[in-house]
Amino acid sequence: MNIGFLASHGGSNMQAIIDACRAGRLHAAPVVVISNNGDSRALERARTEGIPSYHLSGTTHPDPDGLDRAILDALVRHNVDVVALAGYMKKLGPKTLAHFKGRILNIHPALLPKHGGKGMWGMHVHEAVIAAGEKESGATVHLVDEEYDRGPILAQVRVPVMPGDTPETLAARVLIQEHIIYPATLEKIATGEIVLAGEGR
Ligand code: GRF
Repeated sequence: MNIGFLASHGGSNMQAIIDACRAGRLHAAPVVVISNNGDSRALERARTEGIPSYHLSGTTHPDPDGLDRAILDALVRHNVDVVALAGYMKKLGPKTLAHFKGRILNIHPALLPKHGGKGMWGMHVHEAVIAAGEKESGATVHLVDEEYDRGPILAQVRVPVMPGDTPETLAARVLIQEHIIYPATLEKIATGEIVLAGEGR
């Protein structure tokens, strides 16, 4: 199973997936990394790992349709089977979404369907969880469709919200679990325990 990544910033989830592949815990190959951010740590990690990487953004491709095509071309050229969004802050274009329908995963740092949707990214998510007085939070791995954070849920993990938590302390607790559940869910896809409707190239 060839995995293609889209990441905007740190890429720690991407790294956890790559590490799982290298360690043989995930029977898959990381084949390409795409970032909209030319300076991202994610692209740096790709270079360190020797994984082909591309900076594709509104800067490199001002026309949205051209950008969509460029992203799709890169994924197809590297024979990607499953696309893993890992902190990707942009929406995918319609061509990429259609081609990989049912084979694009994302991880969200809360228990969807709560605390998702437009504007719910980064610390905003954890601020919202704390403000709502939730007793628990967690992470959700889900399929991506046209809507933000609305696709079918594949896996969830829960963590407690502790008294005195700040968005940062909660984020750190959730992130530890993200790094476990994302590779584990991909392994279930690789072994056929989870069957994606859109599987096959
Ligand atoms: C994670 O919290 C993930 O849930 C969200 O964006 C963050 C990405 O972090 N979608 P990283 O780039 O993987 O370190």
